[in-house]
Amino acid sequence: MNEYVFGKTLNKIIHGGDYNPEQWLDWPDVLQKDIEYMKEAGINEATLGVFSWAMYEPGEGEFHLDWLAQIIDNLYKNGIHTILATPSGARPVWLDNKYPEVMRVDANGNRNRHGGRHNHCMSSEKYREKVRIIDGKLAETVGNHPGLIMWHISNEFGGECFCDKCKTKFREYLRERFHNSIDELNHEWWTTFWSARYTDFEEIDPPYNNGQTAVMGLNLEWKRFTSRNYSDFLSVEIDAIKEHSGNAKVPITTNFMGRYYGIDYRVLAKKLDAISWDSYPAFHNDHESYQDTMMTAAFDNAVMRGMKKDKPFLLMESAPGLVNWMPFNKLKRPGVHEQFAVQTIACGSDSVQYFQMRKSRGAAEQFHGAVIDHIGTNDTRVFKEVKKTGETIRKLAEVEGSLKNNEVAIIFEWDNWWAIDGAGAFGRSTKKYDSTCRDYWVKLMEFGVEADVISTSDELNDYKLIIIPMLFMLKDNIAGKLVEFVKKGGIVLITYISGYVNENCLCYQGGFPGDGLHELLGVISEEIDTLYPSDKNGIRITYKGMDTVLEVKDYAEILRVNDAQILGTYTEDFYKDTAAITCKNYGNGKAYYQAARCSADDLSDLIRILLEEAGICIKDIPAGIEYHKRIGKNATYEFYLNLSTNSIELSNIDGINLMTGEHISGSMSLGSRGYLVLKD
Ligand code: GLA
Ligand code: ZN
Repeated sequence: MNEYVFGKTLNKIIHGGDYNPEQWLDWPDVLQKDIEYMKEAGINEATLGVFSWAMYEPGEGEFHLDWLAQIIDNLYKNGIHTILATPSGARPVWLDNKYPEVMRVDANGNRNRHGGRHNHCMSSEKYREKVRIIDGKLAETVGNHPGLIMWHISNEFGGECFCDKCKTKFREYLRERFHNSIDELNHEWWTTFWSARYTDFEEIDPPYNNGQTAVMGLNLEWKRFTSRNYSDFLSVEIDAIKEHSGNAKVPITTNFMGRYYGIDYRVLAKKLDAISWDSYPAFHNDHESYQDTMMTAAFDNAVMRGMKKDKPFLLMESAPGLVNWMPFNKLKRPGVHEQFAVQTIACGSDSVQYFQMRKSRGAAEQFHGAVIDHIGTNDTRVFKEVKKTGETIRKLAEVEGSLKNNEVAIIFEWDNWWAIDGAGAFGRSTKKYDSTCRDYWVKLMEFGVEADVISTSDELNDYKLIIIPMLFMLKDNIAGKLVEFVKKGGIVLITYISGYVNENCLCYQGGFPGDGLHELLGVISEEIDTLYPSDKNGIRITYKGMDTVLEVKDYAEILRVNDAQILGTYTEDFYKDTAAITCKNYGNGKAYYQAARCSADDLSDLIRILLEEAGICIKDIPAGIEYHKRIGKNATYEFYLNLSTNSIELSNIDGINLMTGEHISGSMSLGSRGYLVLKD
């Protein structure tokens, strides 16, 4: 089944990560030890060349790629596959000195000097040309190597460039977006306000820090343009590889960063053969529990997986031990590494990969965690944990290629996130769009229900229940799509701050949620009260024998109820006793509206109602247990992870324990940070 990710079955879950032998070419004994230790730790993949441009091309047009071919050969002989990065993540000095246009310009209009990484002008033709050349050379040299299983484009795309080339491209993009009509743009951006009207596309600047930042549509479109420009750049690299790879059909990915704010990853995902991402949870921090950190990591996996649900994803990087870039770089406690690895596979990954194999001796990341530390031995705590994880991963080989078949979806959209944050409204520190989506996802997990994270442009009819938190920006035709979904029998929950603006940030007229969505819901949100953190309110639910009060936080909308049933009412303030949660029967389905934010802990009752209405099976998951399922061709795999500090009794379990090969039936005790993978 793994043909979905790698174009062929590897019969294994990948265990590997970034490996930088180019730093050690003059020390063959070190390279020899690396291979020995990697094999010992069950490493079966190495990601090469992420930042090797200066070694490949030390001067313009002067290429040295032999060392790479030798390394790939040697790894392959030792049972280690290669994922090869293109080196565009960091530019050699000669390139910047000769062609300054490749260096990024910041939001104040100042051009960078040479240094660092991930700071290119993505519009620069010169940069694209040079990247095309080096990518072509790589593809010609090793593109057909049997050890090569995947291409990894560049590294962690991110940031924005405000140079004149980007400005010109932005204007071209706007012309296309607004049908070459400045009147249309002025209308959609409502530029009559504060005299912001444009008479020509050539007058439009990006939102410089010291420039026009008060036009919501402009700010939003700049972010959309940036995503599109990355996607465009991605195509340059993909095309260069394909053009020079002959008949080789090696799949292509780029490493995402979870809920990275600056790029709508769905725009890039369309061009990739597989989704991969870099996950660095802040384990053992001082503001949340281990369980909360792990659940956030699981949600992020779902966000990434949701972009290509028909394939497993890859965990391209994670830290063995610790990182060096957080405010406090705490060690991962014993056992955490292995549990995190199993969690990632449980979430649908077919790999567990690291940054990095061996610590670099100098420079910016010399103290970042690695499989092999400066001490250089295989008896360190971290090495032993990686090795143990390697054994576990080997035992999970048959999980490779298995998928999920979730019945619930949560909508999460990047441009909606930008639009909410950009709106001059609500509480400046309490908008929290992405963490609100996370809270619903986590609550569902307490019922043993894993949700897909998708966008409104995805297929909705695959689901029984769709939860739509804070869909402030309701794009064209989405209201109609939701109406159809409910008519056919679907259940939706739509929350406060939904359907306020269209895709250009213009407010809907005639009542929120706009574009006819309020007819589906039977309510109109007339006003929104933003609460101070110390304000108190509640929602009393008296429904189906329930009599419970949910705590309200941050936002409370005041509703006009037209033709919906009231399930819950406010307990305080001048809107006491008015509707806060409603439901309208529509066609064969139901549309619920939640007018106020409830504290995450209090969402359970509401979620239970929704799951019951949607006919979704609720599983009795003990508190502290995280549960996932993957479905293979011939078997189902269930994963139980104990995130608590105590042992937990699992009951009603039945299947083969993949770690021991034994059949278990009945109950079993799972220790703290332990896990169980059961094959049914
Ligand atoms: C990112 C990068 C890596 C490395 C790690 C360190 O994920 O892709 O090159 O810098 O962070 O955690
Ligand atoms: Zn630029």
